[in-house]
Amino acid sequence: MRTPIIGGNWKMNTNRALGVELARAVVKLAGAQGGVQTVVFPPLPYLLAVGEAVRGSAVQVGAQDVYHAEKGAFTGEVSPGMLVDCGCTWVLAGHSERRHVIHEGDDMVNLKLRAALHAGLGVILCVGESLHQRDVGETNHINEKQTRLGLREVRPEEMARLVIAYEPIWAIGTGKTATADDAQDAHWHIRAVVRDMFGSEAAGAVRIQYGGSVTGANAQSLMAMPDVDGALVGGASLKPDEFGAIVAAAAARV
Ligand code: PGA
Repeated sequence: MRTPIIGGNWKMNTNRALGVELARAVVKLAGAQGGVQTVVFPPLPYLLAVGEAVRGSAVQVGAQDVYHAEKGAFTGEVSPGMLVDCGCTWVLAGHSERRHVIHEGDDMVNLKLRAALHAGLGVILCVGESLHQRDVGETNHINEKQTRLGLREVRPEEMARLVIAYEPIWAIGTGKTATADDAQDAHWHIRAVVRDMFGSEAAGAVRIQYGGSVTGANAQSLMAMPDVDGALVGGASLKPDEFGAIVAAAAARV
């Protein structure tokens, strides 16, 4: 049985005081839900303050991005070791906003993912198709490509710290959610790619989250799907009650 994992991707929102307040609220509601791993992803400047707010609880802290070098002349970037030093245990790689707004390609995503795994971080690799790609029937092809390129040269023993988030781009921040059946179909195919790359054991163990306009209202039907192992939540992660309902839906699945 895979432990469900719910991530709250705060994106470029909150401020220090609001972030601390939100983190404390997440500790209260997630602490009441056993059997679910909960991770919050605040903006980088608030990592330490949020880490302090969740200290001693089961809630973990992750970063929304990382650079692949350990140190050096990379103005503005943050290394995996610096994240570990700040108490981070997770990082996102390949979020669609970084792929499409910041123009990060699959090679960069792979470099970051491997560097983060090497530093001991857990990594959530985000994959997903655009509306056009879905309309022309390329969903599984795009997910396969981003999964294969993202996980290239990852060592099998590192797969235990790897989570995949299927996030159809057209569903992110739009209020449109994939149907539970569509999500299940995409997740099933992504798991098959992991099986092909790393074998049955790794494929059976890897957790695949759904992301894209997840709310308290739709979480239950998504979590009921056999290959949906949690959610990566954007907008609703800024609302403690909504986020709490999503964590509760994941707990109900256990
Ligand atoms: P959303 O964002 O829940 O606001 O759609 C999800 C994400 O980008 O991870």
